[in-house]
Amino acid sequence: MTAQPEFRRYLVNIDSISTQQLFTDCVIIGAGIAGLRAAIEAANHCNVIIVCKDSLQNSNTWMAQGGIASVLGKRDTFESHIADTLDTGCGISDEKVVEQVVRQGPELIEELFRWGASFDLADGHIATTLEGGHSHPRIAHAHGDETGRIIAETLIEKVRQNPNIEVVENFYTIDLITNDDNVCIGIIGHDKQRGQQIIWAENTILATGGAGRLYRETTNPEVATGDGIAMAYRAGTVLWDLEFMQFHPTTLYIAGASRALITETLRGEGAVLLDSKNQRFMQEYHESAELAPRDIVSRAILAQMLKTNSTHVYLDIRHFDKAHFAKRFPLISELCESFDIDVSRDLIPVRPSAHYMVGGVRTDTSARTTIKNLYACGEVASTGLHGANRLGSNSLLEGLVFGRTAGRLVSQRKKVDVAHLKHPLIKYQIPDSDRSRLDAADVRNSLRSLIWRNVGITRKAQPLVEAQEIIRFWQRYVMDKIFDSPEGWECQNMLTVSLLMAHAAETRQESRGVHFRSDFPKTDDKHFKKHIEITKKS
Ligand code: SIN
Repeated sequence: MTAQPEFRRYLVNIDSISTQQLFTDCVIIGAGIAGLRAAIEAANHCNVIIVCKDSLQNSNTWMAQGGIASVLGKRDTFESHIADTLDTGCGISDEKVVEQVVRQGPELIEELFRWGASFDLADGHIATTLEGGHSHPRIAHAHGDETGRIIAETLIEKVRQNPNIEVVENFYTIDLITNDDNVCIGIIGHDKQRGQQIIWAENTILATGGAGRLYRETTNPEVATGDGIAMAYRAGTVLWDLEFMQFHPTTLYIAGASRALITETLRGEGAVLLDSKNQRFMQEYHESAELAPRDIVSRAILAQMLKTNSTHVYLDIRHFDKAHFAKRFPLISELCESFDIDVSRDLIPVRPSAHYMVGGVRTDTSARTTIKNLYACGEVASTGLHGANRLGSNSLLEGLVFGRTAGRLVSQRKKVDVAHLKHPLIKYQIPDSDRSRLDAADVRNSLRSLIWRNVGITRKAQPLVEAQEIIRFWQRYVMDKIFDSPEGWECQNMLTVSLLMAHAAETRQESRGVHFRSDFPKTDDKHFKKHIEITKKS
């Protein structure tokens, strides 16, 4: 079987007879909150292999600062959390899913607490704080702004102790393997030590995380290159709403420094935004000022930067008690100190950057994708919770809920003896390319700049069309190559996902949630109160 580069089913040659093979009931790709939680649940009745492309510590979950949203306070209600989530989702969240996620929140957070996640306490109960778009303080946090690390460490410990779970780090999943009946039967990947391997699995859970690295400016770690979306697309799943990339309003902006996140909970606890003339401006854009939903804050910052001809704005926390700040926000305190920013005297330079992929692999309420025996959870999935915009700190909660849901479904399925199943012989051969060698790092850098410029916070038709033309041109000499290392496969995946994202953004000719079109600034319910669905043409 051969294929045109743009419609290639697999990124590499496969000969299943000569490839090392492993067998498991369930393989999970990705080790953020969703993948880890799924593994713990699935392992109740299954053997599980979790693979992740770097170390277990390298995930968006690990880096999460603000926290995890849930109804934990006496004065808060499920109805209020549901209403805030639906409002932020701008008309296209799935109400059933919102209800499902919100109502499972307290139980899952208490479970994490029992497992050892040391959430910060107030009066003996889990303390909560406020973020934009929430009508009540409902963000639980741990070790101040190290919530992600504490949650990840707790889940990793649980996974490590479980004899039914094997963890394989530095394993790059290249593709999902499907049979002729469109059933997912495992994965092909590259183990840093052992080379190419096939893992045959009765169930495959995709939990690969996000795609922030498609943008030059992002809060995401290097691993967030959209691989899961790209491999699901090649396998033929339905994708939803890739135009909805959420931008975080406040990323540290210092030339040469990595774009570190400055948590929204700082604004929840009183930080204000100032422009380059030292003026507050958020009241001009929204009645909730600094606590408006983050798409509004991001666009307001951009508008103010334009107005004042500046590359950034500032967060002002000079009025905070410095000792309290260092204790409550240890990560940010250390970060500021490392750049000689004395927060009691100096302003913190910030600007928006790509943060969270709201769209992704379409799933139902049980985390099933449109391919049999393939499930998705966490940022790679589009469950219907976020609609057109994600309410801050709802994503860790979503990861927990759908991780458990996927794992439970897998563990309840009738077990088959996967090692003795007759697996198809796969021989997939890609024609040799006679095009010249390629500097994948250079393509990636150019792509990330293009996406930031043309598919950024404010979009319009012509730059979106131009982005697709340029990406197609790059694809002509990147997609026909057979790479033998993650850098090359990531580059191919980034081109694939960028093209789909630009296409989806061009298709949605309206503004909704995080997607703002300056040529269609209004929401158009008549034509676009729906999802933009993409599937590979076969
Ligand atoms: C933050 O701490 O501001 C990020 C929280 C989130 O993205 O949900």
